[in-house]
Amino acid sequence: MHCIKKITDDLVWVGANDRRLALFEGVYSVPTGVSYNSYLLTDEKTVLFDTVDKAVRQRFLENIEEALKGRKLDYLVVQHVEPDHSAVIPELIRLYPNIKIVCSEKVLEFIKQFYDFNLDSRVHLVDENKTLNTGKHTLHFVMAPMVHWPEVMMTYDSASKILFSADAFGCFGALNGALFADEVDFAKDYMDEARRYYSNIVGKYGTQVESVLDKASALDIEMICPLHGFVWRSNLNEILSKYMLWSRYQPEERGVMIAYASVYGNTENAAEILACRLRDKGIKTVVFDVSVTPASEIVSAAFKWSHLVFASTTYNAGIFVTMEALLNDLAAHNIQNRRVAIIENGSWAPASGGLIREILGKCEKIDILEKNVSILSALKAAQVSDIEAMAQAIGADFAAPATVNQNNKAVPNTVDPAAMFKLSYGLFVLTAKDGNKDNGCIINTVMQLTATPVKIIIGVNKANYTHDMIIKTGKFNVSVLSQSAPFSVFQQFGFKSGKDTDKFADCKEVSRAENGIRYLTKWTNGVISAEVKEAIDCGTHTLFIAEVNQAFSLSGEASVTYQYYFDNIKPKPQPQKANKKGFVCKICGYVHEGDTLPDDFVCPLCKHGAADFERL
Ligand code: FEO
Repeated sequence: MHCIKKITDDLVWVGANDRRLALFEGVYSVPTGVSYNSYLLTDEKTVLFDTVDKAVRQRFLENIEEALKGRKLDYLVVQHVEPDHSAVIPELIRLYPNIKIVCSEKVLEFIKQFYDFNLDSRVHLVDENKTLNTGKHTLHFVMAPMVHWPEVMMTYDSASKILFSADAFGCFGALNGALFADEVDFAKDYMDEARRYYSNIVGKYGTQVESVLDKASALDIEMICPLHGFVWRSNLNEILSKYMLWSRYQPEERGVMIAYASVYGNTENAAEILACRLRDKGIKTVVFDVSVTPASEIVSAAFKWSHLVFASTTYNAGIFVTMEALLNDLAAHNIQNRRVAIIENGSWAPASGGLIREILGKCEKIDILEKNVSILSALKAAQVSDIEAMAQAIGADFAAPATVNQNNKAVPNTVDPAAMFKLSYGLFVLTAKDGNKDNGCIINTVMQLTATPVKIIIGVNKANYTHDMIIKTGKFNVSVLSQSAPFSVFQQFGFKSGKDTDKFADCKEVSRAENGIRYLTKWTNGVISAEVKEAIDCGTHTLFIAEVNQAFSLSGEASVTYQYYFDNIKPKPQPQKANKKGFVCKICGYVHEGDTLPDDFVCPLCKHGAADFERL
């Protein structure tokens, strides 16, 4: 039975999944399977983009038949001849004998190498200067040699702004009903597999990937359709930005990947002590036993992390077998631009360190710490300092760089509260209702989190009564204050406590939203009603993630920013009597008289802490 997925009104996914494949390309484990993507465009002409692996040919052929709805198949665009995408070409030709094969010279050469059928009468040769018009759509061809094979070609449909990207932007893992990357939590659940796919399949060819990225940057792309994994129709930058890093061999994260090969646990012991000492310095670490974790995962991790440590016992006067295979794999995948440290072990003639150095020394821009840690059989107390010295040397790279001001003067490594006021957040009246009791307070942290569904995040001080109401009821309104809001609004909602005041007693400019909660009808340019989905305890404050169920605009007036409030709304502090001693709240102007201000002091008006006070 066919299983197809609609992408646009005239483009359908006709690919298939394989969850029984043990090793992709006979070498890469795919525990969650793999998808072979193929796409059918039904314009005035019908166009199929690539075929699939022979393992899923039956489903694929059923899919095409269904998607064609009785029409003939006019064109097959062959972008990549690797058999996981070309295996069904011969059968397709038997089923659709009038089909034209759209391909480059190089693709044609490779098809002839793999298959024995008469091609020349049905080939429509293209290159970067040619286009193919299919009715409403015009296809442009982008040569992408070595991404992943030399014949690889991508296709850009300028009408729908779709890039058919061949192997690029692909991902391991079968599609579990979702076709689009935005239907899943890609960063959390699939980015590791996308990186493993990239680093192992095209990692060696970073320069060529960069060159294709350059070509792609000249195109107006709204969707990417790769040959494996998800279709990208939104937030394309999520995957494009990773490709920019990976293709340049730039690490994604600063931290240390430690890979060890240990026969009796002593080399492992040294690796783990190093990991602990690095963590003590606040440095992120991941540790792999190369005899257990598949090499493809460690290659992928090496593409992710900035620093790499290799620890290996000496074996047959060489590097332990699994470590040697990993290092050769890394070198073959062109790993570069990393800091490396080496730990060797050997009971009578430790030699692995020098040999590891030899392999990695051939890679570009690999900076290896001068001193290996060398162990005879097992780490002894006297040698723990060597591991600590290695942690120290690696840790030096992670020390905070000296920061300077505009005059190139060093600035102290402290938290200046004034810098927080530079943030561009606005000011809002947050309202809630508990039974018959209405309340509201001023907050400065509201931001949209997601668009589908619309979710916002708000930060609320736990000392506010409104906070307790939201915890209890899970509902609130946000009135976005506009620039006409007078200081009295901030005094009314910001400098009093709803626990002992009815903040709405004298407020006539209010109404109720669909959720029954009040909002301000004046000095407000927009109102958002939301229901809490998640609350995150952040110490003094709670962050509420909430789904918006009503939102409307009230005026076109500009919103109040924090800066606007301080410059134009908040009264300027009055000159103080010369002999008066005390501290003034920079937020609301409250003065606490006295020689000292306790660290845990909280402003009785606006609830800000001691950090927001300055000496008179
Ligand atoms: Fe999925 Fe290079 O083939």
